[in-house]
Amino acid sequence: MSDFVNWGDHIDDRGKTQYFHGRDNILNAFRIRLKYAADDRSKGTTFLIQAAPGAGKSALLHECAGVAEKDGWKAAEIPLSALWDIPTLLDALGRGEETKKMGSWSGGIKGRLGVLSALTVGARINYKSRKITAPRDTIQVLQSGEERLVLLLDEAQVLAKRTPGEHAAHVTILLDAIHNGRLGRPVMLAVAGLSSTKEAFRKFGVSRFKANCYAELGPLKPEAERKVIADWLQMEGLARGDIRPWVEAIRQETHGWPQHIASYAQPAALQVRADRRRMTPAGLEAVLETGRDQRAKYYRSRLDGLPERHRQAIAQAFAAARTDSTQTDSVILDCIQEVCREPGEAQEIFDKALAQGVIDNRNGRFAIPVPSMHDWLLENYGPDRGESLPD
Ligand SMILES: Nc1ncnc2c1ncn2[C@@H]1O[C@H](COP(=O)(O)OP(=O)(O)OP(=O)(O)O)[C@@H](O)[C@H]1O
Ligand SMILES: [Mg+2]
Repeated sequence: MSDFVNWGDHIDDRGKTQYFHGRDNILNAFRIRLKYAADDRSKGTTFLIQAAPGAGKSALLHECAGVAEKDGWKAAEIPLSALWDIPTLLDALGRGEETKKMGSWSGGIKGRLGVLSALTVGARINYKSRKITAPRDTIQVLQSGEERLVLLLDEAQVLAKRTPGEHAAHVTILLDAIHNGRLGRPVMLAVAGLSSTKEAFRKFGVSRFKANCYAELGPLKPEAERKVIADWLQMEGLARGDIRPWVEAIRQETHGWPQHIASYAQPAALQVRADRRRMTPAGLEAVLETGRDQRAKYYRSRLDGLPERHRQAIAQAFAAARTDSTQTDSVILDCIQEVCREPGEAQEIFDKALAQGVIDNRNGRFAIPVPSMHDWLLENYGPDRGESLPD
């Protein structure tokens, strides 16, 4: 008899990924680019990872940081506002104490950002050599310092939407300076985000990525997927005996999708432990049920802030999708428009759905990013659904 494990509301999804496998080609490309950038400081780089929700972008960004640190680079996670806000950037770089020195400088900074940035990049001023005591903008912050630096920016799909208008010019110059190696020291920007990220960067002038510096993540390959599930069972669950039936049963429902794998493999480890390292049929049933539940919770979290009628409108659009399940933006917009109260609202909802990863841009056509999310959305919000769910 299996003890049922109460898994609670959420799987633990934060921090470093345990049992990371796969993505070897991308990590190799990143390693090669690091070497170029280290050898020649004029070889700036933006390394962009773009993918659907739960494809493993954040996990991969963490791995990139690890690779960089091993090669002697400093890796710093930055929030978006670090691109224009000096104290935020200094904090992220572990140089928070310099903020105190800024004192009276801060009052005059705002209005002059754009001009100063253009000047500093053009003239390659090193504020240290000029004996300036505090940086005047984030470009100067990055210019000052000796070590090789990788900046890690996650959730970067919001770049265009969340950069305040008054900072847009400065951010454009900063991104160009990093991308084209104009900071006088090796600085790389590693970026991850949903499928609108590349487009957001294009709006800020970064559109041509160097060879292998742009990656779209798909599912994990079967071999990597098996290894992740096996590690969870054996290392975390301390499973005894033949794990293959469990691995394959879980793979039937995860299709290589890291978020799904985590939804099933973590509960599987707990279940095996609770069953004193044995893998029982009842234990497997409980794991599959929990996994499905976790998966649905994740999808639901993606729909946050979209009212029921908007969810239904999106599902309606995809109910009419072609067999490859993609749809044009005009069909989706028309469906949303039908349930809208205000003119212009449909585009706003469409953009929100795109930004939250409810829909995914596939070269100008649109899809629900993960096949099982597509099915789930139609089951719960589509025209043939049963009872409707609360928002
Ligand atoms: N290559 C991998 N090997 C093992 N586990 C992974 C791998 N990639 C991701 N994971 C795990 O899968 C889950 C989802 O990954 P992650 O959070 O990185 O996805 P994401 O694309 O950043 O999602 P979101 O769009 O929600 O930000 C996490 O639990 C993560 O630890
Ligand atoms: Mg993420």
